[in-house]
Amino acid sequence: MRFDTVIKSGNVVTPAGSYSGDIGITGEKIAALGVDLDTDGATVIDATGHHVIPGVLDVHVHLELPFCGTVSADDYRTGTRAAARGGVTTVIDFAIPSANGSLSEAADTWMKKAEGKSLIDYTFHICITRYQEHKDQIEGMIDRGFTTFKEFMIYESEGWQSDDRALFGTLERMRQLGGMLLVHAESSRVLDELIARHHTPAMMQQYGARLHPMTRPNFVEAEAIQRVVQWSEATGGRLYIVHMSTAEGADIIRAAQARGVPVIAETCVQYLVLDDSVFEREDGHLFACCPQLKKPKDVQRLWEGLRHGEVSVISTDTCTFTREQKAMWEGDWTKIPMGMPGLETLMPLTYTSGVLEGRMTLDDMCMKLSTNPAKIMGLYPRKGAIQVGADADVAIIHPEKRHKVSPSTMETNADWSPYDGWDLAGFSRTTLSRGDVIVDDYKVVGREGRGQWLPRTARTN
Ligand code: URP
Ligand code: ZN
Ligand code: ZN
Repeated sequence: MRFDTVIKSGNVVTPAGSYSGDIGITGEKIAALGVDLDTDGATVIDATGHHVIPGVLDVHVHLELPFCGTVSADDYRTGTRAAARGGVTTVIDFAIPSANGSLSEAADTWMKKAEGKSLIDYTFHICITRYQEHKDQIEGMIDRGFTTFKEFMIYESEGWQSDDRALFGTLERMRQLGGMLLVHAESSRVLDELIARHHTPAMMQQYGARLHPMTRPNFVEAEAIQRVVQWSEATGGRLYIVHMSTAEGADIIRAAQARGVPVIAETCVQYLVLDDSVFEREDGHLFACCPQLKKPKDVQRLWEGLRHGEVSVISTDTCTFTREQKAMWEGDWTKIPMGMPGLETLMPLTYTSGVLEGRMTLDDMCMKLSTNPAKIMGLYPRKGAIQVGADADVAIIHPEKRHKVSPSTMETNADWSPYDGWDLAGFSRTTLSRGDVIVDDYKVVGREGRGQWLPRTARTN
């Protein structure tokens, strides 16, 4: 059998286990797995001494998002270049309707952001921000190839907030139509009250950005997760909790899954490697994200959740803001644009803190970064695993070679990094997307705009 490309002599990670050998690629697809594959006429990529793993799916990103009075600084050009360097070959962003806009208009708007710019494949979760108006548009969006929806339990001032009626009704529709609802779970009224109690000149003077974690105790997330899990249990609608950050959340999910509730949980890599002690730093305000970083005991519990299985996915919630944008806060923590860069460091952080530090195996990492996200988001078996017939989305990483994180050498538009100076292994030496080499020798070489939109179909069971 002849191939266009052969990846030679790597440690290849597949759903059936790892083997030492080759991958044959024809066109955009993986055509063969084996040893000593025919290289006649093929481009040969030497993977000796490297792990060859499925391209990562980051299923929670915000590129060019209008948010907190500004627009997030990584667009589809810089964001997906950063992604590729970190071995990410698919992103899922969130299409958010404008003030009076429909779900379909939101999808069109986000399509335009990506088209002609994205280096890698992409699709969107469709955000339902005005349930009464949007509820009858859900089915049409599924017909259009969008099967995952999102509701925010906070962000009233952005015009994005959903109440219990919306959550309950949307979950009912998910059950009927075979879609899945993603939820940002934080308890809005309690959060409002805690912010109001602390929002005084004296407190802001005394505590600065530390007021961000001080006003978001763990019960703000836990109560909201508990409530929406209840609606999933009542309706049978598939629920996915995004960016879960607390130990209490993991406990609730574990118990719910044991009762058979169709709920899945994602955490983000920042909740696995950072904690809220960063707010003690002079530049602590840079680390404001939503939900905020939690305590070391939460970090530990999330790793445990990944091991036990109640946490299924690791993503980034990439929402990049530069130092200048973060400076908009001027001492008032409620005005800090919330979010951090993440795509470039998702796999390096997970590999270094997870695999090299013994918290997970390489197979587990591929499961949480590739296979599970692809299955859960309806992209498997096209994406998410090295197997015959799948898209040839592959990352080749050195087992130990480390690179120092430095904003000056990164692809992201951020002029800072939460991980500045960290020595991380797991950057992608070579990234392939549908058979094209888009990162070679740790440098991005792929053509801007080559990424494709990924249609999906709803579940029938
Ligand atoms: O800080 C964050 N996460 N910014 C993006 C918006 C969200 O809630 O995901
Ligand atoms: Zn969120
Ligand atoms: Zn988000």
